[in-house]
Amino acid sequence: MGRLIIVSNRVPSPRERSQPAGGLAVGLKDALREGESLWFGWSGKQVQLHGGDPVPRLDRVDNVTYATIDLTPLQYEGFYQNFSNGILWPLFHYRVGLMNYSRTDWKTYLAVNAMFARTLLPLLRPDDVIWVHDYHLFPLGQALRDLGVKCRIGFFLHIPFPPWSLVRSLPGADLLLEDMQSYDLIGVQTPEDAENLNHSLQANGLDARGQAFPIGIDPDEFRAQAEKSMEGPEVERLEGSLRGARLVLGVDRLDYSKGLPERFRGYEALLARYPEHRGKVTFLQVAPISRGSVEEYRQLRRQLDELTGRINGAYSEFDWTPIRYITRPLPREVLAGFYRRAEAALITPLRDGMNLVAKEYVAAQNPANPGVLILSHFAGAAPEMDEGILVNPYDPDEIADALHAALTMGLAERRTRWQALEQEVSSTTAISWAADFLRALEAAPVAGRS
Ligand code: ADP
Ligand code: G6P
Repeated sequence: MGRLIIVSNRVPSPRERSQPAGGLAVGLKDALREGESLWFGWSGKQVQLHGGDPVPRLDRVDNVTYATIDLTPLQYEGFYQNFSNGILWPLFHYRVGLMNYSRTDWKTYLAVNAMFARTLLPLLRPDDVIWVHDYHLFPLGQALRDLGVKCRIGFFLHIPFPPWSLVRSLPGADLLLEDMQSYDLIGVQTPEDAENLNHSLQANGLDARGQAFPIGIDPDEFRAQAEKSMEGPEVERLEGSLRGARLVLGVDRLDYSKGLPERFRGYEALLARYPEHRGKVTFLQVAPISRGSVEEYRQLRRQLDELTGRINGAYSEFDWTPIRYITRPLPREVLAGFYRRAEAALITPLRDGMNLVAKEYVAAQNPANPGVLILSHFAGAAPEMDEGILVNPYDPDEIADALHAALTMGLAERRTRWQALEQEVSSTTAISWAADFLRALEAAPVAGRS
């Protein structure tokens, strides 16, 4: 096998390169370890360019070369903010009503993909294997083929793939699907996503080559981090501040796909219907602001500010606050300790490609006294993790019942459930995910190229 070329819109920042965080970076770390590789994508910066394409900035760490390009403010707006996150993101999370379609943004999206292809081309060698990631880059494979690239190219979609009846609401969806024929293999998170993708391809008279490869985490690393963090100053401060209260934890980017208002109402319903938990349970939601330039995300933030204020106003005591709500990220190692301290994790997305937080929570638990995972049916992780308490996130009363069940569950049941979940999390890891995909890509028939 030649070099592995990873292409994704986000590339790990220099700080993340030595200690990668998040499924993609962790999973790829191992794949990248063998032989020479290159990771190409956006630098995260916006820079005004006066004509021509940007020149990739090359930065080598061990055997991996990171090649990043800047976007202009107009490219950032049309490609990243509007088309990727204002159109594709809502649509692929089944929220057609939130999709703000514009033909201008579609053109910018295609143009930026073509620009990615042109700037990547000089860095490629004929025996490279290219692996493209996520919805920002659907047309990239075709753009590379148009420039004569004959390497194997695989694609992985980290978000859900909805049924064709929804996807077709996107003007040009058929063209995107046609472009995806350039990939020798298309990976998605779940069998349901694969079925939807393959049906969409067939509905357009195209070859169905979608296959499910559920992504995982590095559970050993996470467990070690959680154990270490329990001894750290942050967990000690948290413990002191809880003053004996049980802890329910939520950890998500501040995104409307995560079901945060519904979750807050579920916790409110717990306090209303099970008053015995008042004063004895604290809900900590960590939700760092994400994509703050997109209007729907700003609206969500306002909604959550209001809900938190209302619920805390109604239920707080002078010495107890029901909801603690933080809109900044926490360092990963601190987060791992908080997971381990929490008696329950409340993870209730309305739709999610996979949801790695659910897997991290399981990996972080103390086997002698594990907490309970409450997980939405609509997380990609749900089919693998049905030993958690699965809930319909749209029903606050169901969330309240699940929370009550979690907070009153005996040790024996918690351990039985956790052991099954832990086995699942350990069997499909980030590393096995990347290896499985790349093996299948190597073996995939090379469609229609000489
Ligand atoms: P998504 O990819 O939609 O953000 P996932 O749950 O699959 O959702 O992955 C999120 C990743 O980001 C996880 O690795 C998680 O630990 C990390 N993360 C999420 N929220 C926070 C936070 N508040 N602080 C630090 N890391 C976070
Ligand atoms: C999800 C997407 C990723 C994206 C990440 C953070 O995990 O699948 O492609 O990078 O969210 O979003 P951002 O817009 O900050 O890159």
